[in-house]
Amino acid sequence: MAKKKPKQAKAKAAAKKPARKAAKPAAAKKANGNGLPKPSSKPYGQAGRALDGLRILDFTHVQSGPTCTQLLAYMGADVIKVERPGAGDITRGQLRDVPNADSLYFTMLNGSKRSITIDSKHPKGMDILNRLIKTCDVLVENFAPGALDRMGLTWDYVHKLNPRMIVASVKGFGPGPYEDCKVYENVAQCAGGAASTTGFREGPPLVTGAQIGDSGTGLHLALGIVSALFQRNRTGRGQKVLCAMQDGVLNLARVKLRDQQRIEKGPLTEYSQYGEGVPFGKAVPRAGNDSGGGQPGWILKCRGWESDPDAYVYFITQAPVWQAICDVIGEPTWKTDPNYATPKARLPHLKKIFARIEDWTMTKTKFEVMEICNAVDIPVGPILSMKEIAEEPSLRKTGTVVEVDHPIRGKYLSVGNPIKLSDSISEVKRSPLLGEHTDEVLKDVLGFKANEIAEIKNSGALSAPKKEDKAA
Ligand code: COA
Repeated sequence: MAKKKPKQAKAKAAAKKPARKAAKPAAAKKANGNGLPKPSSKPYGQAGRALDGLRILDFTHVQSGPTCTQLLAYMGADVIKVERPGAGDITRGQLRDVPNADSLYFTMLNGSKRSITIDSKHPKGMDILNRLIKTCDVLVENFAPGALDRMGLTWDYVHKLNPRMIVASVKGFGPGPYEDCKVYENVAQCAGGAASTTGFREGPPLVTGAQIGDSGTGLHLALGIVSALFQRNRTGRGQKVLCAMQDGVLNLARVKLRDQQRIEKGPLTEYSQYGEGVPFGKAVPRAGNDSGGGQPGWILKCRGWESDPDAYVYFITQAPVWQAICDVIGEPTWKTDPNYATPKARLPHLKKIFARIEDWTMTKTKFEVMEICNAVDIPVGPILSMKEIAEEPSLRKTGTVVEVDHPIRGKYLSVGNPIKLSDSISEVKRSPLLGEHTDEVLKDVLGFKANEIAEIKNSGALSAPKKEDKAA
């Protein structure tokens, strides 16, 4: 512990200190002693947005990277998406539903961003990128392994230009035997352990509709970026952030790695396979609709299931509400019957129990089941179709589903910010047209004058290489 200086010595030391600089920045003047500014007196939601002032050089394409930068844009970052002239992000034209309009694949992943077209393989294009690197805080990319380096934008190069720059990448795999592979969503779901544990025991491995490989990794990357920004406040320097899709999927499938270690010690008693007397193998099996936790659950038919593919409910036989379940389904004797009264006693009978509960759920709609069960704290979840989600008023109200207007395609739905901050209100803007903000970025961000912009345009750095250039 440092010794306390006597009063006189303190005074002498103070006299030796150089005179304070005249003016202090406003934020520092308001500092509270802990380095933070005084709490804002503005009403919540009116003190700007969480990432205001942050500028991102967005080199992402397809889904994983764009999910990350869209989220950061929702949080207030100025995201400048660099796209290849003439073509842009390949998803602009993929799965098109409206002729000549950017696809929903693109529009739903690139809201609230600006778009500039730059040919990174043109010398003048590289000049502009260099300037952007100097002015941005984060470079985000998800090119195939080595593509950024081939552009000349190696970590050493970028870091020399801007030591504060954070360079964030999504790759399919981390360092190792597969590091050079190109990877898409389902490859990651398979390589991350999710597919081998999804589906029914007697069927093949299954991928899930939730994009845990792409959007899941984008989310991981966003957390890596804000953490690196926080550390930069102390160190003053940027760092590399790498999220491998295999790692991201495994992180989301960690309960299955838990089960892999348990299976070596004995059967997984909460899997219905155990109750059915089917022996376990060496690896975690597919568990159908078994719950991933300690409370048995299953998907059950509801009224109308014969014609409505989504007339189902997920029903959890949570131990503390077993008595209520027995009452609701009309089996009060199961409360005390030794075959059903305790969670352990129930395990070998789960199939029979769920069949009995289903006899009851089939007499109700999924929403009636929800209403009756929620009233007595039985956890259930209706299987909501995407149609029902799109039309759900409460999701519109919270901004989780938003309607955006686009000059070419018209109105479309997007998923807003699923993370709600009470003092940083997300604004979801439509996705940009290809190169829509090229002039704006050159002028406002990089300070080019009109004649310089015209010169850059004439150089061909912002337009697609002509056919004869390509052929050469
Ligand atoms: N100007 C000029 N060239 C540009 C450019 C620009 N503005 N933007 C991109 N390019 C070029 C790159 O330099 C690269 O060229 P090169 O291969 O000659 O070096 C090329 O476009 C991009 O290539 P790549 O990333 O390989 O695209 P792809 O369509 O062949 O592969 C993926 C797509 C998704 C498979 C691949 O990018 C990948 O594996 N990414 C990492 C994992 C990932 O994110 N996957 C999920 C996607 S949702």
